[in-house]
Amino acid sequence: MKGIILAGGAGSRLYPLTLVASKQLQPVYDKPMVYYPLTTLIEGGIRELCLISTPQDLPRFRQLLGDGSRFGLTIDYREQEKPAGIAQAFLIAESFIGKANVTLILGDNIFYGGDTFQNAFAEFKSGATIFGYHVNDPERYGVVEFDAHGKAVSIEEKPKSPKSNFAVPGLYIFDNQVIGITKNLKPSARGELEITAVNVEYLRRGELRVQRLNRGFAWLDAGTSSSLHDASAYVQTIEKRAGIKIGCPEETSFRQKFVSLAQLEKIVEAMPHCEYRSYLENEVVAEAKRQ
Ligand code: G1P
Repeated sequence: MKGIILAGGAGSRLYPLTLVASKQLQPVYDKPMVYYPLTTLIEGGIRELCLISTPQDLPRFRQLLGDGSRFGLTIDYREQEKPAGIAQAFLIAESFIGKANVTLILGDNIFYGGDTFQNAFAEFKSGATIFGYHVNDPERYGVVEFDAHGKAVSIEEKPKSPKSNFAVPGLYIFDNQVIGITKNLKPSARGELEITAVNVEYLRRGELRVQRLNRGFAWLDAGTSSSLHDASAYVQTIEKRAGIKIGCPEETSFRQKFVSLAQLEKIVEAMPHCEYRSYLENEVVAEAKRQ
């Protein structure tokens, strides 16, 4: 399974913050937003990644994440010249995907809790797997409707009258058909290759699985000033209470054995003295040495 992080878009809803740095580079409490989806993919065991962003922002992501080796990953970078929809990612990354299955995560989606995604990646064979999450404002999202047996029967993008409260979060798992499906899509009324149209096509083929995320699971998106603030507050609350970090790719890549303890120690030593470094030193490195 290969992984794509889509970190494009104009970020107009976060203006003027996004005049100088893209949405996915903005802080969510104590780290850049993109660290959270990056960590989600690492937790899922995915090591070959492609990050897609605008020509202006791509150099900053490179500066932040490098070639991925400090997380035991490879990261390819690709430009999305104009925002023409989420599904365009599969065309931009076609040569990266090759013949593999692929998961796409949106750079402003933050997930926390449980192992639903890890299991979904591990069990995935073919078709598409997406998720459903109960929200109180489904009209902002792709919305999935279930029949009485819990089977998905429709998916609509930002419907005015949603048929359910189940929104589709920005993490999608597809087999290699996704490239052909995307090539056959027509742009929507807003001129975009819609991810929802890809899901609808898998549904039509009878190859779409929609897994409901349980109540204990947190899904936050951080695309508006208010949701960005909520996401920061949420992360701060959990981190303070539990003394752990959410969305720390150095820690997760070590726990996944993508990097060794010796490599992690080197990475930590190169960091300036700060709270982030102290956490890795005290809670991760020192703890691993005690065991
Ligand atoms: C996009 C998708 C939508 C999905 C959402 C998740 O919306 O189009 O189907 O539910 O991401 O964050 P957008 O971020 O473009 O508003």
